[in-house]
Amino acid sequence: MGQSIKVGIAADHGGFEMKQALIEKLLAEGHQVEDFGADTLDPDDDYPDYIIPLGRAVVAGDVERGIAICGSGVGASVAANKIHGVRCGLCHDHFSSRQGVEDDDMNVLCLGGRVMGQAVAWDHVAAFLAARFSGAERHRRRLSRVAELEAT
Ligand code: RB5
Repeated sequence: MGQSIKVGIAADHGGFEMKQALIEKLLAEGHQVEDFGADTLDPDDDYPDYIIPLGRAVVAGDVERGIAICGSGVGASVAANKIHGVRCGLCHDHFSSRQGVEDDDMNVLCLGGRVMGQAVAWDHVAAFLAARFSGAERHRRRLSRVAELEAT
């Protein structure tokens, strides 16, 4: 893979196993990883407890990119996108994991731990981390409209 970056990752019980597997892969690829929890598999835990600190760390620049995981990915993506400055996409295909960064400057990738296998999840993560925002004027224009909405 490309250059090593600092990645934040968070998951509830629905994504716990996937998170642990992705951390191993990320470290093996030479990335720095900050784990925002859960620290143990607790079937009663709540995804906002982990996803919100992850999103805030991405916005603050404490980590360069975030990976948010819950069972379906839906709750985690909803929570992450409530944080100003987070641009989180729930991805089920390789194309979106790459293009979400290139066109939409996605800074948090969301995955569903119960809807895909670990090899597919890693393919998403690798595509997400290798991608860079294109900076094209039309994409900046669209993102500025979203930023305006956040500011109101
Ligand atoms: C937890 O059971 C599950 O609801 C959660 O992980 C997630 O899928 C929510 O969207």
